[in-house]
Amino acid sequence: QISAVRARQILDSRGRPTVEADVTLADGSFGRASVPSGASTGSAEAHELRDGDATTYAGLGVLKAVAHANSEIAAALAGLDAREQHKVDLAMRSLDGTPQLARLGANAVLAVSIAVARAAAASLRQPLFERVREIAGLSGLSMPVPMVNILSGGLHAGRGMDVQDFLAMPVRATSIADAIHIISRVRNAATEEARARGLPTLLADEGGVSPGLPSGRDALEMMLRITERAGLKPGDDVVIAIDVAAASLQQPDGSYALTREGRTANAVEMTEMLAGWVRDYPVVSIEDGLGEEDWSAWAELTQQVGHRTQLVGDDLFTTHPDRLARGVRERVANGVLVKANQNGTLSGTIDLIAQAKAAGYATIVSARSGETEDAFMSDLAVGSGAGQIKIGSLRTSSTVAKYNQLLRIEEACSAPYAGISALVGRP
Ligand code: PGA
Ligand code: ZN
Repeated sequence: QISAVRARQILDSRGRPTVEADVTLADGSFGRASVPSGASTGSAEAHELRDGDATTYAGLGVLKAVAHANSEIAAALAGLDAREQHKVDLAMRSLDGTPQLARLGANAVLAVSIAVARAAAASLRQPLFERVREIAGLSGLSMPVPMVNILSGGLHAGRGMDVQDFLAMPVRATSIADAIHIISRVRNAATEEARARGLPTLLADEGGVSPGLPSGRDALEMMLRITERAGLKPGDDVVIAIDVAAASLQQPDGSYALTREGRTANAVEMTEMLAGWVRDYPVVSIEDGLGEEDWSAWAELTQQVGHRTQLVGDDLFTTHPDRLARGVRERVANGVLVKANQNGTLSGTIDLIAQAKAAGYATIVSARSGETEDAFMSDLAVGSGAGQIKIGSLRTSSTVAKYNQLLRIEEACSAPYAGISALVGRP
């Protein structure tokens, strides 16, 4: 039984305020969780409540959300069974009363939702990934393949490149420990390669290098050189994923501004460009290749390259069941990025993963570009059998916390590494 909810304002990896919540049960069990925050956000995401008071943290304070958790949410959850995650989350949804949790703030609701799961796990003497597995009603577990930011641009790196992220996936690893070692080699080689070319080695928001290359092909070539420099085989040991984050390139007239290339592209030209990359490079996954409301162009992109590569909707689907259902209906994409804070509750996120899997869509549990030390997403990825996880590079402590949690989970459950079979649309 939930006896107390206590929230506070803490800071994320960009030094911006975010919500942390503590939940205590009548038997003394305790759970704590904090929530991340994105920069390249989709319009349909659950609502992150910010104070808007320009005198503190430039309006980004979350004291209103914290107050809602401490008053209304605490009162509504008092006495509920923490093991009944769906019931707890539903109680918060109906208390809020808006579709995007705009009144209480999805940041407050999600922090409490995850803290409840942690408290229940403590009470049941379960590891958190087991709690997630039970809520998801699954039998097996698997260790997800990491998708790791190596070269970054877009809103995560001062728009130094048009495309937001070029990521490495160690698909041939034998375990998470092995995968992390491969990532470490690739990430170090990225710094060395940038240095050798006289390019900046500064960190982007998700721990990648931000070399400011003029075109996507330049970045893909550099990804190949980095992999080789690490002593690994591109297209075999390590394959490439891309997050275009095209919504942040889109102009009011619907065209896409490729500023570094000095041109704009329409949806057909974007599709051609992406298809060319898939043809010429070991690109196995493309996220947000087109804008978040470009549904018919998305369907065309899916028809053209969806059988050869994974096409992932992030800003497109925003971890929302209705948007994913529309995607499935209209044959748009074949994978979904899963961000709990786009959805707003833990059970809603777990249900979305099940919905995607039932439709044959790939599922990639993802961090945000502003993270805390909370490593919940690692337990979510393993317990939900998502198969893939997108965390960020092996650099900042908020990111490394998630990899370290994966190492602990692997030690605890020795679940098999999902490997290349977790990807949809591969040749
Ligand atoms: P965000 O970026 O957290 O800034 O939204 C992550 C992504 O686009 O995948
Ligand atoms: Zn994205």
